[in-house]
Amino acid sequence: MRAILMGPPGAGKGTQAADLITRYHIPHISTGDMFRAAIKAGTALGMKAKEYMDAGSLVPDEVTIGIVAERLAEPDCSKGFLLDGFPRTVAQADALDKILTQLKMNLDGVINIEVPEAKLLERLTGRRICRQCGGTYHMVFNPPAAEAVCDKCGGELYQRSDDTLETAKNRLQVYNDQTQPLIDYYREKGLLKEINGDQDIAQVLQDIVDAMEHKH
Ligand code: AP5
Ligand code: ZN
Repeated sequence: MRAILMGPPGAGKGTQAADLITRYHIPHISTGDMFRAAIKAGTALGMKAKEYMDAGSLVPDEVTIGIVAERLAEPDCSKGFLLDGFPRTVAQADALDKILTQLKMNLDGVINIEVPEAKLLERLTGRRICRQCGGTYHMVFNPPAAEAVCDKCGGELYQRSDDTLETAKNRLQVYNDQTQPLIDYYREKGLLKEINGDQDIAQVLQDIVDAMEHKH
């Protein structure tokens, strides 16, 4: 399966991606995760990305497109992939088209997870992530059994630095301005699968699987 997972910050892309990649045995290509890994490793890419991410704005297209082009050319992507958080601008979508044409690959679908804006801020500010395995929790909607400890690996849970109220608000604004236009872009190509993300996590997953397997 070759798919894109779209949706505003906090829609549940990372949460759903974790299940989808296990189910379909495909690599998860999250530009946000790639940037966070680069920041942690202290690379030049990380230093560049950090200033944009901390402000809740987008990392420049030329940087982002370059890392995705390299990643998609790796051998494990020949069996499929799940892009998460890319593309986020029309320029990125046009670049992706060219990259996939060069690699002789087609997209099977673009999954757009929709959640009312009022709920997104609550999801973002309540999110906690495991330092060890990257597992995602929510203090109210998906709480760990023990406070601040990962159920899966016992790792420490932390809050992402861009999940403060002020930065989260800016991320939603940036999404509305720069990423929202991609919904029509992919609808016009006949690739868009609209998914109601305002349901419990298991139901959202089921709806995505049904949409990708053409059950509705
Ligand atoms: P990125 O890491 O991609 O963040 P994002 O798009 O803002 O998305 P999130 O990770 O915040 O949300 P999500 O949809 O994955 O939600 P999650 O599953 O965690 O990008 C971060 C930054 O990197 C950007 O701001 C930008 O600076 C840069 N960047 C990345 N890609 C870029 C690109 N292509 N170009 C330029 N810059 C780029 O869920 C959220 C919370 O809700 C969790 O607590 C979860 O437990 C909970 N939850 C999930 N599903 C449900 C549900 N069904 N019901 C109730 N709660 C739920
Ligand atoms: Zn963990």
